[in-house]
Amino acid sequence: MEHEHISFPEAIRFIANKYKIEIEETEDSEAEKEKKEVTDSLYLINDFARDYYMDTLFNRNEGRNIGLSYFKERGFREATINKFQLGYATDERDEFTRKAVEKKYNIDFLRTLGLTTKSDADFFRARVMFTIHNVSGKVIAFAGRTLSADKKQPKYINSPESDIYNKRNILYGIYFAKEAIRKNDECILVEGYTDVISLHQGGIENVVASSGTSLTHEQVRLIKRFTSNIKILYDGDAAGINAALRGLDMVLEADMNVKLVLLPDGHDPDSFLVERGSEGFHQFIKDQEEDFIYFKTKILLKETAGDPIKKSIAIKDVISSIAKIPDTLKRSIYIQQCSELLDMREALLVSEVNKIIRANIKAKKIGIPNQPDPDKNEDEWLKQKTVLSTIPPELVINDAWQEKAVATILINYGHEMYDVEQNITVAQYIISNTSEILQYFDTEIPKKIIELVQDLLSKCSIPDHQWYTQNEDESIRNFAIDALTTIYVYADWDSRSMPLQNQKMPDENYIHDASNAILRLQLKKSKRLIAQIEDYLNNASDEVKSSEEYSINMKTYIYLIGQRNQIAEKLGTVTL
Ligand code: GTP
Ligand code: MN
Repeated sequence: MEHEHISFPEAIRFIANKYKIEIEETEDSEAEKEKKEVTDSLYLINDFARDYYMDTLFNRNEGRNIGLSYFKERGFREATINKFQLGYATDERDEFTRKAVEKKYNIDFLRTLGLTTKSDADFFRARVMFTIHNVSGKVIAFAGRTLSADKKQPKYINSPESDIYNKRNILYGIYFAKEAIRKNDECILVEGYTDVISLHQGGIENVVASSGTSLTHEQVRLIKRFTSNIKILYDGDAAGINAALRGLDMVLEADMNVKLVLLPDGHDPDSFLVERGSEGFHQFIKDQEEDFIYFKTKILLKETAGDPIKKSIAIKDVISSIAKIPDTLKRSIYIQQCSELLDMREALLVSEVNKIIRANIKAKKIGIPNQPDPDKNEDEWLKQKTVLSTIPPELVINDAWQEKAVATILINYGHEMYDVEQNITVAQYIISNTSEILQYFDTEIPKKIIELVQDLLSKCSIPDHQWYTQNEDESIRNFAIDALTTIYVYADWDSRSMPLQNQKMPDENYIHDASNAILRLQLKKSKRLIAQIEDYLNNASDEVKSSEEYSINMKTYIYLIGQRNQIAEKLGTVTL
């Protein structure tokens, strides 16, 4: 579809024909046929309109003197203008409509597309024209920008929605950007048509615009077909910041990574690029890009400085954003980092995030929205919500991060020596130190890997990298490839709180990393067991308190506390 810019059925026919495969085609129903014919006609008319506006821009005096000179003044080169199919609509009352009717285009369709008004005049008049394409390059709508300074005129007018144009589904520039988005594995999101064109011309092609409206779910899904990384480039004024923050939660819910670059106040990407040039622009983006959640956290903290009540509201806000992230691992990393920014204990953040996640899960199950419906009674919603807060705790945030770290080190360095004198390999060290806690693992793949290696070791064999990367189990293969290629990245994120710390020379540091990762995992598991027993001890009735079981639990508890303190001491952390 993408190579040949054709529709799905066309693509099927193309491939079938190429490989001499016979395909059985079902006849469309009459209604379907008719609908298809209509949309085909709509596309044809839009093509005609685009050609007309382009021809006017390039070949007629009014177009050249007003439209083309305007685009050139803005720095758009002719090749760019051609590529984006920019055009010009003259000030005549109905010139376009007359020409279209002359060519036998259906006047009702012209009206449907919004090119012609009810009184048969041209809709776009005295405006420079932006052609809007869908993802496969078909012309679905237009936007016209006025060049008059008259404040009563809207700056842009757009084609109305039609069978072929749904604003919510489309991003301006997606057709020209999609290859670059895939290649760069990143999509840059800007506000305006001219920003897209200008950046494109400056060599930044992975850019699309939401065209003035705030980002929709459909648009996020469209981007997700090509990448999971979004970079939002907005004006640094209050309106820009708010627009950016509004889109955040939705993008997080789609499990996408969001970075933000705020431009100096009063600049849009277009004007900023013109001022700084390509190189300066690139550098600025590189220096200024910031992870979205940290950005939000900082903004909120700045706004609430010195006001504890406002601060607590801000913290709730950040927590609710974090709770939207579906990926457990990513979520726990954000929690770690935000706990520092917010100066809050990580455990407290975890439990707050879990509360929200549980409420969200529960609300979804029984159909209660996370926010009150503006048209309905808020009290009713609050009542429903209150019922929900009596949900049994579940471990929504788990130890995935630590388990992954241990398995990662096992895969990377399992065959190296952990202790030369005692002839112990890293694999042996890891296996013997995880056997007791393996039953408490939260994640399947690390658990499976450790079990398999345990088995191999008992047969005196040590797996090498290939054993993992060519494993018959696909999930192990994928995990291993990930582990073998990304281990060093983790260390950069935050040397203070990541287990794979001090990895300046990762290949020489695996002994330290192995013991550190093991200790952290043990600490996690021991804390969890302690919490469970604590729960039991605190809730025991008098009868239970005099039982044998209670006293065993009490002894275990004391033992575990001692063990936990030892681990913490080795790690150099203090546990209260
Ligand atoms: P220039 O002023 O030519 O640089 O255009 P711009 O695209 O940078 O415009 P601006 O920053 O004012 O607005 C950003 C985007 O919001 C535009 O590209 C449009 O998509 C949208 N927009 C702005 N004004 C209007 C308007 O009056 N009507 C509509 N429908 N959209 C608008
Ligand atoms: Mn602009």
